[in-house]
Amino acid sequence: MTDLTTKYGSWVLVAGASAGLGAAFAESAAKRGLNLVLAARRATVLEERAREFGARYGVRTRVVPVDLGDEDAADRLLVATDDLDLGIVIYNAAAEPAGLFLDADREDLRTNLAVNCWTPTLLAQGLGRRFRDRRRGALALVSSMAAQQGIARFAAYGAAKSYELILAESLWDEWREFGVDALAYIVGATASTGFRGAAPGAYRDNPDLSEGASRILVPASPEDVAERLYDRFHLGPRQYSHDADEEKTRADATKSRADVVTAMGLVTAGLARFHPGASRLSR
Ligand SMILES: NC(=O)c1ccc[n+]([C@@H]2O[C@H](COP(=O)([O-])OP(=O)(O)OC[C@H]3O[C@@H](n4cnc5c(N)ncnc54)[C@H](OP(=O)(O)O)[C@@H]3O)[C@@H](O)[C@H]2O)c1
Repeated sequence: MTDLTTKYGSWVLVAGASAGLGAAFAESAAKRGLNLVLAARRATVLEERAREFGARYGVRTRVVPVDLGDEDAADRLLVATDDLDLGIVIYNAAAEPAGLFLDADREDLRTNLAVNCWTPTLLAQGLGRRFRDRRRGALALVSSMAAQQGIARFAAYGAAKSYELILAESLWDEWREFGVDALAYIVGATASTGFRGAAPGAYRDNPDLSEGASRILVPASPEDVAERLYDRFHLGPRQYSHDADEEKTRADATKSRADVVTAMGLVTAGLARFHPGASRLSR
């Protein structure tokens, strides 16, 4: 195990840390002796997490309640971490507007851009400048298998996750001369709090689902996905949360784009069976 404190710094910031994968990223960091800055909207949940991880692993904690869709969200996080030896930043939170694009609410589309694109952009620039000046640090933008091809019913979400993917890969190239790491972490099906992909029978009308796409029926655990990231910060620019997702990506590169996009549409048609916004997901 790399000594992350020596390599990067003694604190980690997890943006979107109250639930799901974000809570798992925070716990994995605490296990490694890193102190935690936990950010999300729900202050009381964050405080519970901070108490729990602080007591269990003997690390220091700081809680920053913030809506990452707010215009000043990145600035608030920059101020809240200004006095810390911050080494690692994981931008995990996401807005996930679901439904057919033509039916989408304008406000949901704006929030998608704010949470998934604008705030991580400003945060990456602000913290990246600090990392450059101190010649160490690591940034992970959590992206998705949804970022790698068109995805009907999640068009704006997939496009925004694609933005994070390309931003992180670009920063990997720009920052490596300073000894600073950046990567896009491509997450596939993971049984997090927000995950809705494993309902039995969801895909019974879709017998053509490829091996990789059918992984949605057997999601990874948030703990495994989190642990894997901490071993990969130095390996950028694009790392996968599961070997099967990397293999699917390689296989997709040999197919026609129409086939790849259609296959993803079959997956989200299956999701439409039990998603809270199901009526908006059906054609
Ligand atoms: N789970 C999967 O199968 C899967 C697959 C592909 C990619 N991903 C990616 O993995 C990441 C985590 O997903 P997840 O499934 O773990 O999500 P989740 O269980 O819904 O948790 C999302 C976290 O982000 C926080 N958050 C959401 N909107 C926020 C906002 N506007 N401001 C501040 N915090 C906000 C939530 O906390 P509050 O509600 O307290 O704000 C929560 O802590 C996302 O980037 C997602 O795109 C997940």
